Amino acid sequence: MASTARNSSGRQKRCIRSAGKFLNEQAARIYLDNAATSWPKPRSVVEAIADFYANHGSAAGRSVASDPVLVDRKVQQVRSRLANLIGANDPNQVAFTFNGTDSLNIAIRGVLRPGDHAITSVLEHNSVLRPLHYLEETGVIKLTKIGIDSNGQVDVDQLEDAITNDTKMICVSHVSNVLGTIQPVEKIGSLEKPPECLFLVDGAQSVGHIPVDVNALGCDFFASSGHKGLMGPLGTGFLYANDRAIEQTEPFRLGGTGTASEQTQQPTEMPFRLESGNLNVGGILGLGAALEFITTETVASIKSNTNELIERFLAFAENHDGIRVYSRARNDGGAGVVSLQIEKMLPADVANVLDSQFGIQVRSGLHCSPLVHKSIGSDKLEGTVRISVGHFNTIADIDALTDALTQLASV
Ligand SMILES: Cc1ncc(COP(=O)(O)O)c(C=O)c1O
Repeated sequence: MASTARNSSGRQKRCIRSAGKFLNEQAARIYLDNAATSWPKPRSVVEAIADFYANHGSAAGRSVASDPVLVDRKVQQVRSRLANLIGANDPNQVAFTFNGTDSLNIAIRGVLRPGDHAITSVLEHNSVLRPLHYLEETGVIKLTKIGIDSNGQVDVDQLEDAITNDTKMICVSHVSNVLGTIQPVEKIGSLEKPPECLFLVDGAQSVGHIPVDVNALGCDFFASSGHKGLMGPLGTGFLYANDRAIEQTEPFRLGGTGTASEQTQQPTEMPFRLESGNLNVGGILGLGAALEFITTETVASIKSNTNELIERFLAFAENHDGIRVYSRARNDGGAGVVSLQIEKMLPADVANVLDSQFGIQVRSGLHCSPLVHKSIGSDKLEGTVRISVGHFNTIADIDALTDALTQLASV
């Protein structure tokens, strides 16, 4: 249950009460930037991190003393919970990373070799585009970028035509962080590809928001942050890799694993193959609490809440003169992201006014996805205003936003 009241500065102050499950009181702002990182976190996440630093603090898997052993066991439980959530066959197919960018770099730079061809799309985030462009510009790979259709989805026919015998990797996002559209990844997963070609799905904007089953998607890698839809802390992420992907992946980072220390070579087995150096244990235990919260709430109910908020917002925005909606987020409800522009106002100005005068935090600009804006025509006004809702947003938040945008669009 959520109630709203005005605080002394005139901004809305929100108090959420729900059997201590959530933070009891949020700061005096409405947070609609959950695609950058989700906030607030479930109370249990904050408590798990505090408990780790107050009562444990050991490095996982580095000693036979009782606390490191206990901490290691807890970390492995989080790995199993994550594997269950995404339908992985074995928890050891999941490596912990430090964010979505880290996961994507481990896959891309661990697989691609001189002479390889890679395919990606114009929708992608810089955490995909920059490593791929770097490899292309340094002469290591050839790169093909696929366009999107009028529904804001990667053109699968164009992608199929681009596959050659040298294609070693196809990398596509599951949900666009600019448009909110769910991508046809199952279709791409089922395309005929050369035997060694690996399909990498960037799930940074999908997992936690919509159901994910890596086997049903037909992907070899699934890369994500832990701090967005999964509601874990910043500094967490993961990479799922199936057995054929693991075999073809050279570790990006080499170093200590707490295992086979007599060996000067990196262990070949997972998860140590891809996990070198101390893990962010406090963050992982926070992520574990978030996964428990999501499992209890269920992804289906999280998705249905988010869809309701997005539908309410689109019903307003799509019919309002002076507001241009770029998202076609209606395919299966999208995943909580809408992009728009207000006529004659730069997106950065809209975001500044929303923040300073209405206490509403959104994001403006290119959202680290520079290529898609040309395709949708939002490049002329320096990108879009992005609204991204999370599990703790309410109808009152959406109504406050629509009131504010109505005032801005009428200026
Ligand atoms: C689609 C997409 N991929 C990758 C990332 C990178 O994730 P991180 O910020 O955890 O590195 C983001 C972050 O916004 C994203 O939206």
